[in-house]
Amino acid sequence: MKIGIYPGSFDPVTLGHLDIISRAVKVFDHLIVAVMVNPQKHCSFTAEERITLIREAVQDDNIEVVAFDGLLADYAKMRQATAIVKGLRALSDFEYEFQMALTNKKLNPMLDTLFLATSAEYMFLSSSMVKQVASFGGDISAFVPPSILQEIQERLSRRSFDGNTGNRRGLS
Ligand code: COA
Repeated sequence: MKIGIYPGSFDPVTLGHLDIISRAVKVFDHLIVAVMVNPQKHCSFTAEERITLIREAVQDDNIEVVAFDGLLADYAKMRQATAIVKGLRALSDFEYEFQMALTNKKLNPMLDTLFLATSAEYMFLSSSMVKQVASFGGDISAFVPPSILQEIQERLSRRSFDGNTGNRRGLS
């Protein structure tokens, strides 16, 4: 059985991520969407919340959604996955993604990284952008699936306002 892993922070999941998931699941028998820790980021949603949002947006028996807070290369070995799937947006993603792919391969020589080109309409989308627009009360319906739109909008607009000071809080 061919097992692939699609890792990310997914803070929150967007239509861009779902585009990659729907295409990657056709390549593997089983796809694991792994909510991982990027130590350089401070997430707005807990790991449990991020998992729930992805599960609400993805309904496919061949897709599993998990959280793991260790090394991706170790998790892939544990799950006998043969490839990591990543979406490449612009050229600016390339250097960082290439570095991660080579590091993961060094840590787990059985593990390859498969890059899928992001669909044109999601080329400039990112979770941070969604959070910023939502925190100012903007419309994020073009960026996240309808099934979780309200949940994300309520959660982020609530977070962005500090009831004590009346100021907007900065989102990470
Ligand atoms: N469409 C839209 N947006 C996309 C996208 C797509 N197809 N693909 C990525 N993005 C966005 C993400 O939402 C994210 O936005 P943000 O920076 O605003 O949060 C951004 O592009 C970067 O995504 P990604 O490259 O997947 O980074 P990440 O921080 O979400 O995930 C981990 C990085 C978690 C996979 C990585 O840190 C990791 O593997 N951690 C585990 C520990 C480990 O093994 N470390 C060693 C790695 S070599």
